[in-house]
Amino acid sequence: MDKLLIEGGSRLTGEIAISGAKNAALPILCAALLCAGPVVFTNVPQLKDVTTLLALLEQMGVKVEREGDTVTLDASGLTEPVAPYEMVKTMRASVLVLGPLAARCGQASVSLPGGCAIGARPVDQHIKGLQAMGAKVDVEHGYIRASASRLKGARLVTDMVTVTGTENLMMAACLADGETVIENAACEPEVVDLANCLIAMGAKISGAGSDVIRIKGVSRLHGARHRIMPDRIETGTYLCAVAVTGGSVRLTSTQASSLDAVIGKLIEAGCSVRCEPNSIHLSAPGKLAAVSLRTAPHPAFPTDMQAQFMALDCVADGAATIRETIFENRFMHAVELQRLGADIHIDGNTAMVRGVERLQGATVMATDLRASASLVIAGLVAEGETMIERIYHLDRGYEHLDEKLSALGARVRRLKS
Ligand code: EPZ
Repeated sequence: MDKLLIEGGSRLTGEIAISGAKNAALPILCAALLCAGPVVFTNVPQLKDVTTLLALLEQMGVKVEREGDTVTLDASGLTEPVAPYEMVKTMRASVLVLGPLAARCGQASVSLPGGCAIGARPVDQHIKGLQAMGAKVDVEHGYIRASASRLKGARLVTDMVTVTGTENLMMAACLADGETVIENAACEPEVVDLANCLIAMGAKISGAGSDVIRIKGVSRLHGARHRIMPDRIETGTYLCAVAVTGGSVRLTSTQASSLDAVIGKLIEAGCSVRCEPNSIHLSAPGKLAAVSLRTAPHPAFPTDMQAQFMALDCVADGAATIRETIFENRFMHAVELQRLGADIHIDGNTAMVRGVERLQGATVMATDLRASASLVIAGLVAEGETMIERIYHLDRGYEHLDEKLSALGARVRRLKS
């Protein structure tokens, strides 16, 4: 397994481009299952999770063409509405094929995605919504088996805000008979990007980005061309990486509009941030002020940026509390940060962090995607060398991470196993 070796102490400066959003690309690629014709996607990030999903779609009979950041999918030859355990276990977002398959084929057999490092990650809301739309759904032998001659529009109220739950049900509703209303819907920008793609394919959707989404079912969707939105979490991650080193950076091909809560916290920490239509400029002071935060659904502070900010707080001036309200086990990075000398006390879903003068480099282990990013950020300012093991977690969600960091002056090397 590859490792990342970081020599701490460089002040990061320069300019890098942000890639397409992983969490928009995954549902949007699944949307291609809804139509019997080619759909062209651009700005698709070259990530492990995307490769895994394309392999899953291909084994279903979808024609896949990929050239650089452009992916063309043609599901006219869809023959196998099955997502097997072997593929779903490596990428739980594969569950996003469930809604499109049930709507397009009238049947779907999708392996239950297991839990992961950050939590149990159940999909009961996805199932409940499909059942409310008239699907017969059984869970047996580790598979979700859904069948419906044709889904019917329904009023759906999810028990909690669920991003992929909203996305699965919105995709299923596109081909249902009648209108579906999703209440308590997720407002994340990636949901809006998916809705925009579906509308380009002929879907009739209103309200995406709010907590009530209305979808009027149509008989079929047609091909379209859609550019994936920039990755707001990659953007926030690099802003944190530069801020912690007291550096300055210009991030291009990105949007500040989806990151208000994160930018607000960076300003609170002492950074100056200038937002332009397609870029963000940040410059940071030598020492950041510790900032407290509480994760919550969009537009509040995103859980996917929690680990990165914990790394910032580890070397900031003062103390802060971090409350994780979305996932039950999303502090796995804390014990690894403690190996670097961080002063963190965990009490349930709250972490108390007191800034220390310097972290010391050590060997640490990545446990999940954003926890890995947190360790990279800490390694950039730790004294000496930090070796991060199991960086395949990073490769799932950050395109060319070592190259981009090196372009900003970081002393980072990927050690091939
Ligand atoms: C999406 O996961 C993202 N993944 C996650 O990003 C992100 O952290 C999360 O949304 C929250 O913003 C993708 O978009 C591919 P949820 P998702 O359903 O949809 C509970 C990353 O690092 N829940 O919004 O799986 C669930 O357990 C990843 O890029 C149920 O109980 O998250 C959690 O506590 C990590 N039953 C809460 O709701 C359900 O049926 C929110 O989960 C569904 C969810």
